[in-house]
Amino acid sequence: MAIVYGGDYNPEQWPRETWAEDMRLMREAGVNRVSVGIFSWALFEPEEGRYEFAWFDEVLDLLHQNGIEACLATPTASPPPWFAAHYPEAVMVDAEGRQLTHGSRQGFDPSSDVYLAKALAIAEKIAERYADHPAVGLWHIHNEYGCHNARSYTKAATAKFRVWLRERYGDLDGLNAAWGTAFWSQAYSSWDQVYAPLPTPTIPNPGQVLDWKRFSSWQLVQNYKAEAAVIRKYSDKPMTTNFMTGSHADIDLWEFSGAVDIVSTDHYLAGEDADAHVNLGFAADYARSLGAGRPWILMEHSTSAVNWQGRNRAKAPREMLRNSLAHFARGADAIMFFQWRASKQGAEKWHSGMVPHAGTDSKIWREVCELGARLGELAEVEGSTVSAATAILWDFPNRWAQEHEARPTNELDPQGIFNVYYAALWRAGITADVAEPEGDLSKYKFVVVPAIYLLSRKGAENLRRFVDGGGTVLVTPYSGIADETDTVYLGGYPGALRDVLGVRSEEFYPLIGGRVELASGGHGTIWSEDAASTGAEVRDTYADGTPAWLVNRFGEGTAHYLTTFPDDTTLDRIVAAAAQDAGVTPAAEAPVGVEVVRRAHEDGRSWLFCINHTDADAQVKSADALIDVPAGEVVVHREHA
Ligand code: GAL
Repeated sequence: MAIVYGGDYNPEQWPRETWAEDMRLMREAGVNRVSVGIFSWALFEPEEGRYEFAWFDEVLDLLHQNGIEACLATPTASPPPWFAAHYPEAVMVDAEGRQLTHGSRQGFDPSSDVYLAKALAIAEKIAERYADHPAVGLWHIHNEYGCHNARSYTKAATAKFRVWLRERYGDLDGLNAAWGTAFWSQAYSSWDQVYAPLPTPTIPNPGQVLDWKRFSSWQLVQNYKAEAAVIRKYSDKPMTTNFMTGSHADIDLWEFSGAVDIVSTDHYLAGEDADAHVNLGFAADYARSLGAGRPWILMEHSTSAVNWQGRNRAKAPREMLRNSLAHFARGADAIMFFQWRASKQGAEKWHSGMVPHAGTDSKIWREVCELGARLGELAEVEGSTVSAATAILWDFPNRWAQEHEARPTNELDPQGIFNVYYAALWRAGITADVAEPEGDLSKYKFVVVPAIYLLSRKGAENLRRFVDGGGTVLVTPYSGIADETDTVYLGGYPGALRDVLGVRSEEFYPLIGGRVELASGGHGTIWSEDAASTGAEVRDTYADGTPAWLVNRFGEGTAHYLTTFPDDTTLDRIVAAAAQDAGVTPAAEAPVGVEVVRRAHEDGRSWLFCINHTDADAQVKSADALIDVPAGEVVVHREHA
């Protein structure tokens, strides 16, 4: 078997002569799969109900003749102009209540029945016609659900929101209790008083906003399921849709991943961030974790610059190779790009492709060919997995609840805190899964809990059981504060975890433009609280003696709690101590900036991927070898015969 290699292929942007050249170049680069049809709705159905597929028959035939598999998309992410013209009420309304218009993409209202009917109709036409085409290997449903229209505030959405709420709460008493509507005279006496949270004069009801986000996420998953059900009538090939694990958080991917046959994700490097490869690690680990460790598809990344960031820098020589192989190291069995040929027109003409504007006499093309050859040589890695004894928690309702404007400090950004803790694990060389608080933690020894403010009762019980049974946790401030309805746990903070952590705080003192000095010499940022130990050992304090780092033995396990967000050096020391308590070690010894991840087959064959992100040659010391890793290069070391 070969590692899958390719990208989005949009032949409709090019004349037919180019298609023949595309085939030749794809073979030259080692491309064996392309995603097609993603943005072809307006060509498939130029007028409502009139279909034109002949041009696309040709595309699929060409691919097949050239031994290239098609990942066939339903084109439902970008309805044609006739859609908005015929059904203006099905076009999205944004959070400010503005009616949007056609002229870009993904402009439909996900709650619209008309949209869904039209989407299912085109999906069915495609499935009917191509399910048995020999080029088709898998289905790419839609594209990046909710990338631009995750929440649409139409009348149709409000109507569906009410139905969803009835299902969730049964009656208005349930809704009123969950949303705490006794506050500010908000008690509802009829369902038709309930709306999508459009702008209000001041702070909106947090429960309402949180449930709106839950509903909007659910709606998008329903749309996927509806399309998938139509395709399934015609085809038993696997289906997927491309998530956006490193960047977007509007859809609950723990829920969504249960609906796809294989997880796929897109990842774009933040070009302005010198450590963007750390976020890449997160996106990849997260994709792997969504599929319970099974190999996954990197559906899109870029060969070089993107066109939608502030300053879109081209990738440095070898950077694309490092990026691609880092995804591969973390469990991807398919490495794909947006897109095959860089467009010369349209909204994304400044986005790189596998064939750049410069043509094949270019850095990009040479690296594209090198990567294809490299993946060819690594074919036996396919199907192997990455195993992690550490997990870092990620939860959507927690993220959504923290987006609310009323909170102890606006400097506490849940994604930012997550990134800091993920980065600390990355620096320590500890490979981590991403896990949900209510998920199965039994395979882990070490769990990091980064500002999981909203922690359901079930999630709290799960963590308690994990520590009680011998696990080690590292918990940051602002974790375990409120339950699943965003209702505060009373009796002192952090209410859900006081017993596990052996600590109790009465009040928060977010830092105002300053920092809190620590007795150990480091300092804390963003946050402080008046924590008191109720049994935990105090390992570090603020200058005034208030505990900063506490360690509690609970059952068979150990719980570390921080009452501020320490500087990186201090955090590295704390992570090392907690990892040691947990008995977790890195895959190999490597200098700072050199990433090492292991992939292994069940039969014992394993590889160490050593990725040198620095400008200096480095050496990695594994159990059986000293591995030289030149500056900027990736060395894949086969560990056992
Ligand atoms: C993704 C999308 C692609 C393309 C790409 C550009 O969000 O799926 O169609 O727009 O970004 O980076």
